[in-house]
Amino acid sequence: MTDPLNVDRREDFAKLKRDTWNATDYGSWFKPARGQVIDGLEKTALAKALAGRKYEKALDVGIGNGRLLSIYSAHAAHVTGMDISSEQLDQATKAAKELNIPFSRQLCEEASHIDLPDESFDLIICSRVLQHVFDWRESVAEFARMLKPNGDVVLLTYNRYCVYGLKKFYQHKFVNPTKGRFQNALALSNELKRHKLTIEYFSGALMGQPELFSTNLSGPTRAFIRTVENFSRLPLLKYMGGRLVIRAKKRA
Ligand SMILES: C[S@@+](CC[C@H](N)C(=O)[O-])C[C@H]1O[C@@H](n2cnc3c(N)ncnc32)[C@H](O)[C@@H]1O
Repeated sequence: MTDPLNVDRREDFAKLKRDTWNATDYGSWFKPARGQVIDGLEKTALAKALAGRKYEKALDVGIGNGRLLSIYSAHAAHVTGMDISSEQLDQATKAAKELNIPFSRQLCEEASHIDLPDESFDLIICSRVLQHVFDWRESVAEFARMLKPNGDVVLLTYNRYCVYGLKKFYQHKFVNPTKGRFQNALALSNELKRHKLTIEYFSGALMGQPELFSTNLSGPTRAFIRTVENFSRLPLLKYMGGRLVIRAKKRA
């Protein structure tokens, strides 16, 4: 039975997230040198996870301003962009139009409770969103439910167990809990497996963690960050990147 207190908490939580993201100029975060480097590294990491794959129907959960459309749309015949914020969705819709991508928009109540049919997508992308949802385990269950058999979910998510992640985990837990929490690789992997999602690709990204450096990033720092990125798929080291990049297939 649904706990009425939990429903209230979920609705309050969703309202807070919606209001926050409707008022957020997300794109401006990527304008300074550091944002540009992060954007480039995340896009490269996503492109590697999708290399050589083709899909019919993709769903991007928490699409934001559509920043990643240019990368994954080459792999999908149609994209549904979903977000809690109508402002973000407006920007994603504009980006899809500019890129000439077959696109539908879908406002959601909250990404741990999604009002879309079972087995309706063969690709689900969720990038930088799991830390914002009410219950990330419920989101993973929703992804599994909406995926067609043999479909893929691709997660690009902050890693709790890196220097930046531990700093943020502390801040989010004790300073501002509404900001959400970063996942750890083991819990995420176990949750995927529990929902019959088999991990086929696992990598780190942002191994040099640009967030730890100044927004202007000097030339040598950028060179350092790019060099360290070469370790993103090495055993053990891949668990230490600023991001985890996971592709998992729903077993038929
Ligand atoms: C950090 S942005 C990520 C955008 C995009 N996926 C990317 O990687 O650039 C987080 C996005 O998730 C959306 N969001 C935040 N909380 C959400 C929730 N609980 N359910 C669904 N979307 C949410 C925000 O509106 C925002 O567009």
